[in-house]
Amino acid sequence: MENEKRIDDARASHSTQQTASANQTRRRFLWLLPATVFSSIIGTVAVAAARFLNAPASARQANETWLNVAPLSELNGSDPVMRELTFEQDEGWLRATKKQVVFVLPQKNNQVLSAMCPHQGCPVAWRKTERDFLCPCHGSQFSADGAVQTGPAQSDLPALPSRVVDGVLQVKLS
Ligand code: FES
Repeated sequence: MENEKRIDDARASHSTQQTASANQTRRRFLWLLPATVFSSIIGTVAVAAARFLNAPASARQANETWLNVAPLSELNGSDPVMRELTFEQDEGWLRATKKQVVFVLPQKNNQVLSAMCPHQGCPVAWRKTERDFLCPCHGSQFSADGAVQTGPAQSDLPALPSRVVDGVLQVKLS
C-alpha cells in the first residue's frame, strides 16, 4: 500500500516537472516570436536607410542628371531621331531601372522632345509618311516640331533641356 502511494507520488512529481518544462518552452517561444519579428523589422529598415543614405544625389533625382542621348555625328537627316534612354531612379526605398523615349530634331538644332504625350503620358510614334507624331492612345497628333495639332492633348510635346559635352548630346528628363 505504501509502495503504491510512493509510486503515485513519483508519478505526480514527474507530471508536475513535465508541465513546468512545457510551460517554460511555451514562455521561451512566446518571447522569441516577437523578438524575431522585431529584429526582422529593424534589419529591413536599417538596410533600406543605409541604401538611401549611401545613394548618390544624382541617382535619387534622375531629373537632375544629364543623360547621354547620342553623338552629334549620329544626329542628322530630316526625320526626328528616336532614342531610348535608360536610367536609375529611386522610388521610395527602392531603386528602379527606368526607360524613357525622346526624339531629337536634327532640323531644329538638335532640340530634344519627350515622347510622352501631354494628355495622359502614352508614348507617341513618328509617322514618316504623314510627317507627324501620333499618340496611339486617344489619337492626338503633333507636327514634326512637336506642336499639338489635334487633341485631346492640349499642349505640345515637352521640350527637354539639353547640352553638348565632348560632341555628345545630353538631356535632362523632367
Ligand atoms: S494619352 Fe495621348 S491622346 Fe491621350
